[in-house]
Amino acid sequence: MKESFENRIISPQEIPEENDDISLRPQNLDEYVGQNKIKENLKVFIEAAKLRKESLDHVLLYGPPGLGKTTLSMIIAKELGVNIKITSGPAIERPGDLAALLTNLSHGDVLFVDEIHRLSRNVEEILYPAMEDFSIDIVTGKGQMATSYHLPLQKFTLIGATTRAGQLSAPLRDRFGVILRLEMYTNEELALIVERSASILKTRFEKKGIFEIASRSRGTPRIANRLLKRVRDFAQIINGGVITYEVANEALSKLGIDKLGLDLSDRRLLDTIIRLYSGGPIGLETLAAAIGEEAVTIEDVYEPFLMQLGFLSRTPRGRCVTPAAYNHMGYEYPKQNL
Ligand SMILES: Nc1ncnc2c1ncn2[C@@H]1O[C@H](COP(=O)(O)OP(=O)(O)OP(=O)(O)O)[C@@H](O)[C@H]1O
Ligand SMILES: [Mg+2]
Repeated sequence: MKESFENRIISPQEIPEENDDISLRPQNLDEYVGQNKIKENLKVFIEAAKLRKESLDHVLLYGPPGLGKTTLSMIIAKELGVNIKITSGPAIERPGDLAALLTNLSHGDVLFVDEIHRLSRNVEEILYPAMEDFSIDIVTGKGQMATSYHLPLQKFTLIGATTRAGQLSAPLRDRFGVILRLEMYTNEELALIVERSASILKTRFEKKGIFEIASRSRGTPRIANRLLKRVRDFAQIINGGVITYEVANEALSKLGIDKLGLDLSDRRLLDTIIRLYSGGPIGLETLAAAIGEEAVTIEDVYEPFLMQLGFLSRTPRGRCVTPAAYNHMGYEYPKQNL
């Protein structure tokens, strides 16, 4: 089987059949680990909105996949004590679809639009007045028969989530009162998440085993939970179900995940730049072709973590691999690159 991105165990993207184990989802802000600045701010905004009995300002959440945007949106609705309707940019095909969603919202409700950068232009245009004035104008019929209706809406909160804030049109971005960027999690935060999940899954563990899983989860809760489940399987077979450091280490090595959380695909990417392009700079498209991956996947999924590690830098002339990455990959940094 070709080792492909879709099959990567450390893909931060949701695998459909896995469906982000609902039982592991934190249910309120206190259970939601990390992102402390964001949580502090949100607590104030939510409290203020509740006191004024107003809808919360529109919120835009952005950051790499699997960091908890959808989870946070559900928590916001819950803390506000309102209903949440969940949809996504590509799912809203026509302006009428959006109008139907909007007119069904009650006062204060949350409309969550995932992948909001993928809304079509004519849908977006309905959204502007909806966000700003809480009303929409709908035109039915064509030519002389065309009639336009002005529909007032209940005050609602739009929560948009995106992995690519840069692709949002300026007028849309400007209509969000609160713009929050989710950061990758520290190993300590991930350890708290893994420990909590292990308890929910009724798995016995030693702290060192948990920390080993956390530190190989590339800053991403979704990956941490996924690795926990795989390590749990190994523990079941080789250690009576207890996750120790040794079990975690052996399981993760067998899964092809190294000490820093890089898998074969990451290492292939670094290896390609090092061996075929002398460490870069290499253009994104060239790199995509060289490793047989889509450019957007490289940008959204591989690069955030490699850059976080300081292994890769984006320069105007292309991607460059850093001395730290050479070292990790077991190569000597070429003198002429210094
Ligand atoms: N702060 C957190 N604390 C504990 N668990 C978390 C946290 N954030 C995320 N998770 C866990 O990680 C899983 C993935 O999170 P979520 O689906 O919210 O990510 P996302 O940012 O919406 O990803 P995508 O961009 O793919 O939609 C959740 O099911 C949850 O169990
Ligand atoms: Mg999501």
